[in-house]
Amino acid sequence: MKSYFISGTDTDVGKTYVMSGLAAAFRKMDIDIGVMKPFAAGTEQKSGFKSEDIQILAKAAQVNDPEQLLNPQFFSIPASPFTASKNLGVRVDVNLILDSFKKLSNMHDMLLVEGMGGIMTPILKDYFVTDLIKAMNLETIIITRSRIGTVNHTIMTCNMCKQYGIKITGIVINNFDSGYSPHELQRDLEEITDVKVLGIIPYIEKITIDKMMRHVEENIDLKLLI
Ligand SMILES: Nc1ncnc2c1ncn2[C@@H]1O[C@H](COP(=O)(O)OP(=O)(O)OP(=O)(O)O)[C@@H](O)[C@H]1O
Ligand SMILES: [Mg+2]
Repeated sequence: MKSYFISGTDTDVGKTYVMSGLAAAFRKMDIDIGVMKPFAAGTEQKSGFKSEDIQILAKAAQVNDPEQLLNPQFFSIPASPFTASKNLGVRVDVNLILDSFKKLSNMHDMLLVEGMGGIMTPILKDYFVTDLIKAMNLETIIITRSRIGTVNHTIMTCNMCKQYGIKITGIVINNFDSGYSPHELQRDLEEITDVKVLGIIPYIEKITIDKMMRHVEENIDLKLLI
């Protein structure tokens, strides 16, 4: 069974929510699914996991793995690992990330790994999210939004993946903000990037994992991913 790196064209495009829908849907199919967010950054939650993303993802996948594996490094300011580590005086530990990834891969049949921000978010001066995807030897699913500007961001993301030799499984259009008509966006992105759009997720009122799971089941051919 394959594992995937869930990347995005930017921060706040819906990586966590779309991934939670995928994880919940795979769990429902009786697949032993694991989740990971190598680096998380932002305000620390008062209870549960430090990272809100991990709180959502662990619940969706129904895993009880240690926080240290699910999210090896948490930075309490919203910034890239590169900037956050400098500002906090904490060392980025890529080996710790890769060790945790290996352990989680051995604990589950399939692993979904959420990226940080976009594909070129810096981890070290000369080490980006793209390098992490390569080190994990994963293919990637790119989450993109529908707001005007997304065509530029998606083409750049696909081109960087091609430059780094990262296989792109497909694009998911998270149609939660107005701008492009999602079907025209699909048509144009497929023509320009030669990457398949796996599905379009609509805006979800009062979003929950369960609602997202149903939209994922309806709009993405999950059999293609297992
Ligand atoms: N389909 C949707 N319908 C409605 N709201 C959505 C949808 N997708 C995402 N959202 C909302 O958009 C916000 C950003 O989503 P999410 O946290 O999944 O983004 P992200 O790419 O994981 O961000 P980050 O880079 O911080 O990890 C969330 O508040 C979520 O509630
Ligand atoms: Mg997220």
